[in-house]
Amino acid sequence: MRAIVVRNFGATPELADMPLPEPGPGRVRVQIEAAGVNPFDQRMAEGYLEGIMPHDFPMILGVDGAGVIAAAGPGVHRFAVGERVVGKFLYPPAGHGSFAEFSIAPEDGALVPIPQGVSTVAAAALPTAGTTAQDLVDAAAIKPGQTVLIVGATGGVGSFLVQLANIAGAQVLATARAAAADQVTRLGAAETIDYTAGSVTDQVRALRPDGIDALFDLVSPPEKLAELTDLVRSGGAVYSIIGAADETALRERGITGGNLVSSSGASELARLLARVANGDVVVPIEGTIPLEQAPTAIGAGGARGKTVLTL
Ligand SMILES: NC(=O)c1ccc[n+]([C@@H]2O[C@H](COP(=O)([O-])OP(=O)(O)OC[C@H]3O[C@@H](n4cnc5c(N)ncnc54)[C@H](OP(=O)(O)O)[C@@H]3O)[C@@H](O)[C@H]2O)c1
Repeated sequence: MRAIVVRNFGATPELADMPLPEPGPGRVRVQIEAAGVNPFDQRMAEGYLEGIMPHDFPMILGVDGAGVIAAAGPGVHRFAVGERVVGKFLYPPAGHGSFAEFSIAPEDGALVPIPQGVSTVAAAALPTAGTTAQDLVDAAAIKPGQTVLIVGATGGVGSFLVQLANIAGAQVLATARAAAADQVTRLGAAETIDYTAGSVTDQVRALRPDGIDALFDLVSPPEKLAELTDLVRSGGAVYSIIGAADETALRERGITGGNLVSSSGASELARLLARVANGDVVVPIEGTIPLEQAPTAIGAGGARGKTVLTL
């Protein structure tokens, strides 16, 4: 089968011919039809999992995938052959991911049926970015009327987060280059801040001199995050998803939150899919590209929503 692999950490992702994987007990083989690309795919290729999770080479990349159950191993009872599913294809040993014609997943993992009305491509864009955004809004317990700043709002996580924070009733301030401002406004941002046109801190202070209630920062390194944190009122919340928050310093200022690592599983993914199925959340797809072109998409910056590989 065709798959996108790295042959060792640090190698360039390439198209390869790999054996068809067999589903063991409690596992299903999914024929992948669409696979969402995330920054984590590049990290995985670079060696992020070294010392963290056992892994195999050639390592098939890809966490998010959607398709059809093609075969079920012994004892599988939750899924039937032919059912449309979406999930995360990362479990030990890593390296048997979703950037392939077929992938294996435990039936009790982060794997759920795709509701009617949600396309396979849309579903494939959700697992990592969408559930992380949902986790952030849940963690911060946003209340109607609060002001929230999202830094990195134009990418995968951000374009879900703008919508979910807006649904929670927040006034959303979102960073976006000028060319992407319309996109985040359509998703629900009340104001956009062009981070290439000057200090974000100064621009937000001009808009909200009394401060903001929550900061969701998806991209800033520690120093930048510390500066932006000055915008947040005491009693507010600050979250980083790249480990940039100094949690001790936040507590000293009476701010909740910290570094969030999404651990969303099947139930959270199912909840988000239901919100997409009933039209509350749109899936912002930047583009679809064939599997073969994955090497050009993995690690590419400047995301406007999600890129999805199709098979
Ligand atoms: N902790 C977790 O559980 C978790 C889960 C998912 C993702 N992540 C991490 O979170 C980060 C974001 O993920 P993602 O999927 O949203 O990435 P993405 O799709 O690549 O989006 C990142 C966005 O940030 C924008 N950006 C870059 N530098 C910026 C800056 N200085 N100020 C404002 N915007 C900026 C980019 O557009 P422009 O460059 O054109 O402005 C892009 O739209 C990644 O590092 C990812 O690995 C962590």
